[in-house]
Amino acid sequence: MARSSAFLLFVGSIFSGVLGQTGLAPKQFLSLPLGSIRPTGWLYDQLMVQTNGLAGHEHEFYHYVSQTDWTGGNSYYSSLEEGKFNAMVPNGILANNTAIIQKTQEFLDYVLSHQDSTGWMGPEVNTTKPRYLWGRYPFMFGAIQMVEYNPDLTDQVVTALHKFVAVANTMLHNGEGVEAWTQTRWEDFVMTLQWLYDFHPNGNEALLLDTMLQLKYTGVPWEKVFESQYFPTTATDHLQNPLGFWHGVNMAEGLKALPATYRFTHNQSDLDRASEGWDLLFQYHGRPSGIYAADEYLAGLEAVRGGSYLYQVSGDPKYVDRVERIAYNALPATLTGDFWSRQYLQQQNQIGAQNMTPNPFVNDGPYSNVFGLEPNYPCCTVNHPQGWPKFITNAFVTSADQASIVQVYLGPFKTSTTLAGGNPVTVTVNTIYPFSDSWVVNGTISINSGSPTPVSPTNGLQAVQAKAGTTVFTLNLPAEITTESRPHGSIAVHRGPLHYAFDIPRSSKVLTQNAQQPLAKDLEFDATAAWQYAIDPTTLKFVNKPPASGTLPSPVFDSGLPPLSMTVTACPITWPEAGKTFAASPPTKPACTGAHTTITLTPYGATKLRIGEFPVFTA
Ligand SMILES: *[C@@H]1O[C@H](CO)[C@@H](O)[C@H](O)[C@H]1NC(C)=O
Ligand SMILES: *[C@@H]1O[C@H](CO)[C@@H](O)[C@H](O)[C@H]1NC(C)=O
Ligand SMILES: *[C@@H]1O[C@H](CO)[C@@H](O)[C@H](O)[C@H]1NC(C)=O
Ligand SMILES: *[C@@H]1O[C@H](CO)[C@@H](O)[C@H](O)[C@H]1NC(C)=O
Repeated sequence: MARSSAFLLFVGSIFSGVLGQTGLAPKQFLSLPLGSIRPTGWLYDQLMVQTNGLAGHEHEFYHYVSQTDWTGGNSYYSSLEEGKFNAMVPNGILANNTAIIQKTQEFLDYVLSHQDSTGWMGPEVNTTKPRYLWGRYPFMFGAIQMVEYNPDLTDQVVTALHKFVAVANTMLHNGEGVEAWTQTRWEDFVMTLQWLYDFHPNGNEALLLDTMLQLKYTGVPWEKVFESQYFPTTATDHLQNPLGFWHGVNMAEGLKALPATYRFTHNQSDLDRASEGWDLLFQYHGRPSGIYAADEYLAGLEAVRGGSYLYQVSGDPKYVDRVERIAYNALPATLTGDFWSRQYLQQQNQIGAQNMTPNPFVNDGPYSNVFGLEPNYPCCTVNHPQGWPKFITNAFVTSADQASIVQVYLGPFKTSTTLAGGNPVTVTVNTIYPFSDSWVVNGTISINSGSPTPVSPTNGLQAVQAKAGTTVFTLNLPAEITTESRPHGSIAVHRGPLHYAFDIPRSSKVLTQNAQQPLAKDLEFDATAAWQYAIDPTTLKFVNKPPASGTLPSPVFDSGLPPLSMTVTACPITWPEAGKTFAASPPTKPACTGAHTTITLTPYGATKLRIGEFPVFTA
C-alpha cells in the first residue's frame, strides 16, 4: 500500500566521520520499533515452536526465572532474570502471548518501583552488596523494547533510565561499579545511552556523552583486541592473552563496541577496525554453520548479536549475510526440533551428545554438548529465546532519511510502517526461503508480472521504486552448490544460506527430567549408524522436494523434515574417535575401505548428530 516510495534501495558511500564533530554520528539505517515487523509462514511457526517450548514455559517452573523479583541477589543471578526479560519482551509480543506479555510487564513494574532515591536499580537496593553496572544492561534492553512497542510507557521508563545514568556517571568518575564484566560489556550500556540520546535526551546530552566516554575509557580497548597484532590465530587454550579478553560471549558483545564507539568519536578508524576484527574472527575461528567457535574462550553458541547493529551503523552487507547464516544454521542446530532442550556447545562434527569422558573442551565441563534444560550453565536457558525474535525485529530497516524501507534478512515477513512525509507502507514477503530455491546467482526480478530482468544490486541492495497502490515484484534467485575448504583437507558444503551435513541416525536416552515439567529433559544422543565417510564433491546433486501443500512441516528443524537435500557419492574410510564420544580431526586424503555408496546431506540446522566437515576422495 505504498503511496510513493523507494523500496529496497541503494545507499551511497559509507558515511565518513569528520573529526571534531560533536554529538553522535548518525546511523546508516534505522531500526523499526518492536511489533512493526512480524514473521509469517514457517518463521511464525518457528516462533510458536519456541513459545510452546522451553522459552515460553520456563517462567512456570525454572527456579532462576519463576519469580517476579530479584531472587538471585547478585549481578550474575539477576542478569539471568534480566536476560530472560530481554528475550521474552519481543517473544511475547511477536507471538501475541498474553501470559508472557503480562509476566514481562510485572517484571518491568517490579524493577521500576524498587529504584532507590539515588537512582540505583537492582537486587543491591537496600543492601550493602557491591553494585556492578553491567548487571542492569539486559534489563535496559528489555525496557527499551517495551517502550518502542507501547509509547505509553515512555515517561516512566525514560525517567528511571536518566536517574540511573546520573548515579552510574558519578560511580564511574569515582572508579566504582566497574569490574571485569563491566569492563568487557560496556558497549551494552553505551547502546542504551545512545537510544536515550537519539530519542529522549531530555536536555542531558552532555551527561550522556560523558557517560559513554567514561565507560569506554574504563573498559576493554576493543580497538586493540581486534587488532591483527594481538588477535589469536589459533585456539587460545595455551596462549597468554596480552589484553586479557578472549571469552566467546564477551567477544560477541565486543563486536558492537567499535560501531558504538564510532558514533561518539566520529573516528572512521573505529569502524574500519570493527570490520577487520570481524574478518579476523571468522577467518581464524569461523565455522561453516556461520558462528565462530569458542568453548568459553575463543577456540560457541551465542549468536553474534552485534551483526544487525554493525550493519545499521556501517551499512556493510557482510554483517547481515553472516547473521542470516547463523539464524538458519547454527541456532536451530543447537536445540532439539521442539525447542525444549538446548546445548551449551555445538560441534561441526558431532557424533554423540552425552557426558564426555575424556572431555575435549578445555574450559567447559564434560556435559557441554548434552541437549537439556541447563547443561553447564543457566545463561543459555534464559538467553536462547533472544535469537528468533531479534532476528525478526531487525529484518527491515529504513534509510537514515526514512524515505525508503530495506529488507535486510530474507525470509517470510510482514511489516507496516510510516515513512518520511507520512507515507504508509506495508510489505508482505511471500516465500518459504531459505527452504526454497533462492540465492543470488543470475537472479531476476519482475515487477507487477512484467518480464523478468536481471537483478543488479549495489552494496548488496536492489533498488525498486514502488508507486502508490500495490506493487508485486517477484524475485527469482537461483543458487549454486559451493564448497568451503576446512582444516586437514576437509570440506564443508553450502547452497545459498544453508549449510549441509550428513545427519547421523541416532538413538536417544533421557538422562534427567525436571520434576515439575517433564518436557524439560536432558537427552543423550548416540550414533546408530556409520558416519565415517569421505565424499567426492564433484558428485554433489541438489534435491528439492517442495511440500505438496506449500506448507512446511512443524517443527521444520529436525531430522528428515526440510524439503531440501543433496546426494553425494561417498565411501567408508578409517576415521578414529578421539575419545569415546567425539570424532578425531578428519583424516587427510583417506583411502576408501569399501564400496562407493550414495549418502544424503541435509540442512545443518535440522541435524542433531552430524558430520559437517568431510574428508575428500576422488572417484
Ligand atoms: C493479539 O491477540 C488479541 C486477542 O487475544 C487480538 O485481539 C489481537 O488482534 C492480536 N494482535 C495481533 C497483532 O495479532
Ligand atoms: C528499603 O527498605 C525500606 C524499609 O524496609 C522500605 O521502606 C523501602 O521501600 C525500601 N526501598 C526500596 C527502594 O525498595
Ligand atoms: C582514531 O583511532 C585510532 C586508532 O584507535 C587512533 O590511533 C587515532 O589517534 C584516533 N584519532 C583521533 C583523532 O582520536
Ligand atoms: C548463471 O549464469 C551462467 C552464465 O549464463 C551459467 O553458466 C550458470 O550456470 C548460471 N547459474 C545458475 C545457478 O543458474
